[in-house]
Amino acid sequence: MLEQKHLLGLDGYPAKDIETIIDTAFSFREVLDRPIKKVPSLQGKTIVNLFFENSTRTRISFELAQKRLSADTVNFSASTSSLKKGESFKDTAQNIEAMKIDAVVMRHPDPGAPLHLTKHVDAVVINAGDGKHEHPTQAILDMMSLKEVFGKIEGLNVALVGDISHSRVALSNIHGLKALGANVTVCGPPTLIPPHIGSLGVTVSHDLDEVIEWADALNILRIQMERMGVGLFPSVREYRDVFGVNTERLDRHKKELIIMHPGPMNRGIEIDSAVADSKQAIILDQVLNGVASRMAILYLLLGGKAEE
Ligand code: NCD
Repeated sequence: MLEQKHLLGLDGYPAKDIETIIDTAFSFREVLDRPIKKVPSLQGKTIVNLFFENSTRTRISFELAQKRLSADTVNFSASTSSLKKGESFKDTAQNIEAMKIDAVVMRHPDPGAPLHLTKHVDAVVINAGDGKHEHPTQAILDMMSLKEVFGKIEGLNVALVGDISHSRVALSNIHGLKALGANVTVCGPPTLIPPHIGSLGVTVSHDLDEVIEWADALNILRIQMERMGVGLFPSVREYRDVFGVNTERLDRHKKELIIMHPGPMNRGIEIDSAVADSKQAIILDQVLNGVASRMAILYLLLGGKAEE
């Protein structure tokens, strides 16, 4: 049903397939509201969650999506420090083949690791975040959440605010949103925005107030302390003052605006608690839509093959 066998990233991913995934996700949302939140769609399919990097919400979201679809799942978590990379990667791939696993959901600190895996296994590979590269399922759930509020993506003004350089969520959102016809601005300090990002068709701004005036939605990204060296911005306090989204700043603009965040949030830095917990924030809807989106992705990539 989808053009590509794997979901590795949204760069060059067909817009019509993103739309199919989002539409299917809305129908799975309905399953999540039932007293018994389970359908037999992936009965008999085996999925492994291969996490080489810490994750709470994405891993749980995938696991839940798999259980709701009645798939059999196994989890493998490892920190790369405890593995000798090259060799263990190949071993892992060979094990997956030997165990006749249908799909692999993979998070890895190295960009391109999921693509690399596709060269060694027959299984469907889904990227759950590869280093600073892409996080396609997060972008799809973000777009689903925008569509839920606005009814469409085309023509929307969406701003990605914060640490763009270290964010795979930003890159996947840019590719997906542009494919579906949204206008995208990235906003943050110059040191946290890649120099040639304009070539992806986005506008760059360093003025959060200007961006708030323009935007229909702000997707606020975490300052990724663990991925950055020292000295990319003067201090956390200064970052908060210049790029932090807080109630006083939003109140000054007197306009309706949707607030998003992929989590985990640094409350009090890029987003204030009052904003995160406000009515205009759809952060928990994003979490729910994450399960529905991942159900849709798994179903579309694996579904309908049970009898083969
Ligand atoms: C994101 C990630 O891991 O890239 N989080 C997530 O998927 N829930 C964003 C982040 O780590 O800030």
